[in-house]
Amino acid sequence: MSRFAYVNGRYVRHRDAMVHIEDRGYQFADGVYEVVVVDHGVLVDGEAHLDRLERSLSALRIVQPMSRAAIKLVMGEVLRRNRVRDGLLYLQVTRGVARREHKFPATIKPAMVMTARSAALWSQERFSRGVSVISLEDIRWGRADIKSVSLIANVLAKQAAAEADANEAWLVGPDGHVTEGASSNAWIVTAAGDLVTRGTGSKILGGVTRATLLRLAAHLGVRAVERAFTIEEALKAREAFLSSSSSAVLPVLSIDGACVGNGRPGPVARRLYDAYGEYVGRLSGSG
Ligand code: PDD
Repeated sequence: MSRFAYVNGRYVRHRDAMVHIEDRGYQFADGVYEVVVVDHGVLVDGEAHLDRLERSLSALRIVQPMSRAAIKLVMGEVLRRNRVRDGLLYLQVTRGVARREHKFPATIKPAMVMTARSAALWSQERFSRGVSVISLEDIRWGRADIKSVSLIANVLAKQAAAEADANEAWLVGPDGHVTEGASSNAWIVTAAGDLVTRGTGSKILGGVTRATLLRLAAHLGVRAVERAFTIEEALKAREAFLSSSSSAVLPVLSIDGACVGNGRPGPVARRLYDAYGEYVGRLSGSG
């Protein structure tokens, strides 16, 4: 089946989809993006992703490419044309195309592209397998809260993880505390049973999944504390896990080769994973 992409107002075959070489996303990483999960044809937490897109755009003073309602129509059309019921939708907005010059061009129209693909993302089996992480210095810029396409530090961190046979890198800031993963948020469950994840602010991306999990934890009566933690604390924790749209909840079974807890997925991660699955099922009407 052919895949289609949305590129600046047109639906084109994926293999023919192109942007201009002077798109500022290409030359300066001057753009933002979102990755949204599709479950049974429904965009999971779609509104929260669009809220964050608007926040990222306004932080970088990039003009909204079109109204929210129009973006939603394009999203629906991209899913329909690609026959995606379960998978991922990728949306990117850059400042636009202009002669290369660092400062904002006087007149410029934002550029928007969207793609979608079918994928089986989360499963009990993947949850049970868990992941391993390595710790690395967080060398990103100071505004990790903006979902910028400037991902080179994240790319290098993921590559280092892959070369160490690990799945993710937990990034450690100059204060010695974990900020987040290269493409996920980081969580631990302390010996006292508290669920801990770093507070939002400029140092982490406010994950949509993170926010949903905090709400679900409150419903489940799990005490959550938003604060920073160190790798040493994570190694002494009962459980550790990561969250993101594409992986939901994934237990972290080892950090830098050392076991976390008993080296198996823990009960709090399991409850949150199940609650998240039920939540998504309710959203999409499949649960
Ligand atoms: N990554 N932190 C970073 C640095 C991320 O890149 C992501 C998402 C998250 C989790 O955010 P959310 O729960 O909203 O997906 C946290 C996406 C999936 C990606 O880049 O592919």
